[in-house]
Parts: sequence; structure tokens; C-alpha cells
Amino acid sequence: MVNRVLVSAHTVAIIGQPVFAGGYLGGDYDMLGLHRVGADAVSFLAYAQILAALVLWLVRGPRWLFWVSLLLAAGETAQYFAGMDGALDLHIPLGVALVAGMVLTTVALWRPQIWRAGR
Ligand code: HEM
Repeated sequence: MVNRVLVSAHTVAIIGQPVFAGGYLGGDYDMLGLHRVGADAVSFLAYAQILAALVLWLVRGPRWLFWVSLLLAAGETAQYFAGMDGALDLHIPLGVALVAGMVLTTVALWRPQIWRAGR
């Protein structure tokens, strides 16, 4: 349950990012501040998600969530630096991929789980 709530909150936060970026690119410059706060929130949730997924793995839950969370957090860390660098040729496509990855992770996690001993 903790994992589902965290992953869902993380997805809502990351979906906000292109919304704020779009507002900024459309001329509302305050939106960049919201995008920056959003970036910190997304990063915090990404690292919290790794910890929660690790605990899930240790209590013999599925381990795929840990590896997926690690991959997404690595991508989000690169995304943060690309944003600060203004490297939009990386930042925009990576952002789209990360949003897609989080949505897919959320759907997979909310589906009924069948935990097997072998995993
Ligand atoms: C599809 C998703 C995203 C889009 C389209 C997007 C777009 C943008 C744009 C247009 C900028 C302004 C760059 C500039 O003016 O040079 C920016 C900055 C930035 N973005 Fe994103 N972004 C997305 C997701 C993210 C995510 C997920 C993070 C965090 C993990 C992030 C972190 C940042 C940071 C830290 C900045 C720099 C803010 C500043 O200069 O104060 N972005 N982004």
C-alpha cells in the first residue's frame, strides 16, 4: 500500500512538470519556479520510492519495482541536471520517457499482484 501511494504521488508530481514547463514556455515566467519546486518534489519521491521498493523486496514482495525505481531515479537525476543546464534537446525527450515510465509503473503496481516464492 505504501508503495502504491508513493508511486501514484510520484506520477502525479511528474505529470505536473510538463504542465508547468508549458506555462513557462507560453510566457508565464512564474511557472519556472513551480517547475523547480516540482523537480525537487519529484526527486524526493523518486528516492523515497527506491527505499519503499527495497523494503517491499526484503519482505519477499516483488523485486521488479526496486530495479524499475532505481532506473527511473537515475533518469530523473540526469533530467534534473539537464534542466539546470538548459539542455532541452535531452531534457524534453527524457522528460516524456520518464512520464511514460511512471504511468506504466503505476498501472503495473495497481493491478492485482500475485506474489510467488520464486519471484
Ligand atoms: C516532460 C517533462 C518536462 C518538460 C517538458 C520540461 C521542460 C523544461 C523546460 C522548458 C525548462 C526550462 C529550461 C530553460 O529555460 O533553459 C526546464 C527546466 C528545468 N527542469 Fe524540466 N521539464 C520536464 C520534466 C522535468 C523533471 C521530471 C525534472 C526533475 C526531475 C525537471 C527539472 C528541471 C530543472 C531542475 C530545471 C531548471 C529550473 C531552473 O532553471 O530554475 N524537469 N524544464
